[in-house]
Amino acid sequence: MTDAAAVATAHPNIALVKYWGKRDEELVLPLAGSLSMTLDIFPTTTSVIRRPGALTDTVTMDGRPATEEVTRRVVHFLDLVRQRSARGDRAAVDTRNTVPVGAGLASSASGFAALAVAAAAAYGLDLDPADLSRLARRGSGSAARSIFGGFALWHAPDAHAPDADAASYAEALPAARVDAALVVVLLDTGPKPVSSREAMRRTVATSPLFPAWLANAPHDLRRMRAALSAGDLTTVGEIAEANALGMHATMASADPPVRYLTGQSRGVLQQVRGLRAAGFDCWATMDAGPNIKVLCPGDQATRVAERLTLATGFPTAVARPGPPARLHPRTEADR
Ligand code: PMV
Repeated sequence: MTDAAAVATAHPNIALVKYWGKRDEELVLPLAGSLSMTLDIFPTTTSVIRRPGALTDTVTMDGRPATEEVTRRVVHFLDLVRQRSARGDRAAVDTRNTVPVGAGLASSASGFAALAVAAAAAYGLDLDPADLSRLARRGSGSAARSIFGGFALWHAPDAHAPDADAASYAEALPAARVDAALVVVLLDTGPKPVSSREAMRRTVATSPLFPAWLANAPHDLRRMRAALSAGDLTTVGEIAEANALGMHATMASADPPVRYLTGQSRGVLQQVRGLRAAGFDCWATMDAGPNIKVLCPGDQATRVAERLTLATGFPTAVARPGPPARLHPRTEADR
């Protein structure tokens, strides 16, 4: 690696209070704040190499040329970095995922967080974590939160904020007093039928339930923060499950409806209720895909995962609070 190259790793995050709905598509400004846990599994590692004199950017994903859509999004993102930098060079971007892409497992969050950190370094931008979060946000909203480890809060700009872009960034929450794990039930790792971008747009424009969802968001956020700092995982779980079900209800009432949950997803939700009845402390959350993530105390995670695999036949992965996005150090050989 030389000065013109940088490598970064970031982890996905799962929202416990969801982001669903933008007030500005280009700036990726959310209509409401959200709160997430960064995972310690499924990292994305991305390298960015500036190539002075090259005419185009190249993007490879897991060793193969990226799709047109991914390439378009990455090039648009690099343009934002070039606008802030004195350097206009095109770049070669290579990204390696350990999370299935496009299946509602937050690959865009880890992907754009890793890209933001690597591209900022390769283009010589000196950004603090809040600035990196603002930058990552432009690639994919939820990426704003993957800059941070543990639990993170992404601020929605106030409707009258003079600089809404500056006002919308994530920050790490003080070490939460809960010992939480997320058991990921891998139902389907194929790409989703409708992008989260399109699904959000449609929900905001057509769902009669959306205004109620929006009005409730600050309330959930306030209660979630209080429950985290009080170490009250039961309240954290109850809010997270209700919030996720509410988000899926708003999209199911859009025109045409957006349905990410399948019969299999509903089967797992039923199993989670069954585990609760059997004395486990566990609650479900779901994103833009059929997979279910189950929040539970760290010391119950292995048993919850075993029970769910046994009952459903689907593989599970146990995640605990993960680290912030990081730049790989340059080695002596790079200098
Ligand atoms: O960052 P996007 O555009 O992929 O949106 C993600 C939205 C949800 O994952 C469904 C919720 C969230 O807050 O992460």
